[in-house]
Amino acid sequence: MSIDTLAQLESLRAELRKHEHLYYVLDQPAVSDAEYDALMRQLQALESAHPELITADSPTQRVGGKPREGFVKARHSSPMLSLDNALNEGELRDFDRRVRELLNGAPFQYTAELKLDGLSMAVHYRDGQMVQAITRGDGSEGEDVTENARTIRSLPLKVKSNLKQFEVRGEVLMSTRAFDRLNAERDAQQLPRYANPRNSAAGSLRMLDPTVTASRQLDFYTYFLLVDGKQFFGSHWVSLEALSNFGFKVNTLRRRCADLDELLAFIREWEEKRDSLPYEIDGVVAKVDSIPQQETLGWTARAPRWAIASKYPARQSETTVEAIEVQVGRTGTLTPVAHLAPVLVSGVTVTRATLHNSDEIERLGIAAGDRVVIERSGDVIPKVVRVISQGADRRPFSMPTHCPVCNGDVVREEGESATRCINTNCPARLKESILHFAKRGVMDIDGMGEAVVDQLVDKGLVKSVADLYQLTLEKLVELERLGTKSAENLINNIIRTQTFPLPRVLNGLGIPFVGERTAQIIADAFGSMDAIMQADIDTLQRADEVGPKVAHSIHSFFQEARNQELVERLRAAGLIFYHQRAERTGGALAGSTFVITGTLPTLSREDAKKLIEEAGGKVTDSVTKKTNYLVAGEKAGSKLEKARTLGIEILDEAALMAKLA
Ligand code: IVH
Repeated sequence: MSIDTLAQLESLRAELRKHEHLYYVLDQPAVSDAEYDALMRQLQALESAHPELITADSPTQRVGGKPREGFVKARHSSPMLSLDNALNEGELRDFDRRVRELLNGAPFQYTAELKLDGLSMAVHYRDGQMVQAITRGDGSEGEDVTENARTIRSLPLKVKSNLKQFEVRGEVLMSTRAFDRLNAERDAQQLPRYANPRNSAAGSLRMLDPTVTASRQLDFYTYFLLVDGKQFFGSHWVSLEALSNFGFKVNTLRRRCADLDELLAFIREWEEKRDSLPYEIDGVVAKVDSIPQQETLGWTARAPRWAIASKYPARQSETTVEAIEVQVGRTGTLTPVAHLAPVLVSGVTVTRATLHNSDEIERLGIAAGDRVVIERSGDVIPKVVRVISQGADRRPFSMPTHCPVCNGDVVREEGESATRCINTNCPARLKESILHFAKRGVMDIDGMGEAVVDQLVDKGLVKSVADLYQLTLEKLVELERLGTKSAENLINNIIRTQTFPLPRVLNGLGIPFVGERTAQIIADAFGSMDAIMQADIDTLQRADEVGPKVAHSIHSFFQEARNQELVERLRAAGLIFYHQRAERTGGALAGSTFVITGTLPTLSREDAKKLIEEAGGKVTDSVTKKTNYLVAGEKAGSKLEKARTLGIEILDEAALMAKLA
């Protein structure tokens, strides 16, 4: 070990921590994901060459440890109590009056924060290192979830602070986006859905296997800083500022309020804007800001007298199910949808709610005519929470035996929750696949909405996505409610897609389990549509993050004759079928060509190649005059000799790593 290695390790770690903070805490990334990954790989390579130098607070060590048998209980330094609720303005006024009385009219301020709908957790630090995380549990004793909490990227493993020992408390959250993604994955795997982001955050934090927690993308917002179980600073606001300076994630949506009116304004403001937040909140927490005043006010047995949770009304309403109808999706899945008597749920009129599948209908015990509670949460589609009472003329639902659109056969495979229409020419499937193809972020065909797609399919003008490229102005102007100007725009928007890169085209095909990210990965790995079409399942799985399920889906998609025909017609329409990996410019090795030979002490050749490429270098197979460096390990043979005769610089693994730094 050399001083240099140590210095290099620490500088890489510091750099990665800086980017973690910028990305996960401040939401202001300064480098691309690829650049971040490249730094991470450099650190991993260096650590695997010097395993004795790995430290627990290294950014590589977030997901360590093996699945456990269960959780160990741990005591809290001081009770983690709950909050009293104010359910309306009157109750909030009562709280404010009590505070004023107990403070004998002394001036005071509130700090108002959003009430994040997650679960609370205490995290202990010693000498700047995160050492233990404990769930709230019953308030005096929780469960030790240290290994899982370490996987939360917005929770720093190392912080700069002069405090020898301290504790932070805050809220573990799952964003609405991560929640929707998780449920979509669970649907695909035929697993039951999570009911809401809070339940799924709680479930994810209590996984026995930390790698599962890591995949759930949890977040941690802090709101208390304690030393020996007591608040450290004299003001809550200052405490939040200090936490933020230490590198913790603290919600910036907070306000100091001089009086009840300012507090009420903050509460109303966020009640209106709560849909714009990337996570769910269920109210606002108001805390008397001065800690000495908090001490004067004290606690009841269950909650502090210096704080209150002003709760927003639950976004639930009651209504009647008028009918349960079935929709047919792009992959042929039949989805039952409840049509509801229109009802206002916190300002939005809701008329439909998805029921997912027949298992869900059975679980809810729902039928047309029933009175139900429905709920809106974040951006999630409204859902039926439960049946309140059965309708007098209730009409129980049964999954149709034939597709409601094409009357073709439907099947429900053994062990699957989904029922599918198997007619590949089903117009409903076709409509959905065109809408998917045209969607924003896929082929971006502005103007290709439901009304246009319905007519194109119903009039027989479009029988496959490829037919979009045969549409003419004359055909389009015949459609109802489509003027010449809009028709021209639509044609231009279709033509524009001929310049779109391969990952978008791949995404547009609607291969099950292949979304934006996977399309990018396979395009990067294979470089052309033909290479992807020809790859067998094993080859497909060699691409990053592509598992057996995805590989299988891609392979069987391209095995089908009608999909092959679709691809050929899209090729003929002039879509881009080749893909060049973005050239990295300005990397440490930009412009240099490498050849790797022999066995390197720690890196596989593949990994060495990846590291070089990430840093902008090129790796080729044979040594020529154009080769700049030969990376040689043990048992290097003729390539080494050739490089020597050509006077090419020869590097061992350590020398390569030094160049990468
Ligand atoms: S203060 C004794 N601040 O709400 C002080 N809690 O209903 C208790 N919560 O258990 C916590 N956002 O899980 C506080 N900004 C916030 C909060 C918050 C969410 C949760 C927390 C607490 C529950 C009480």
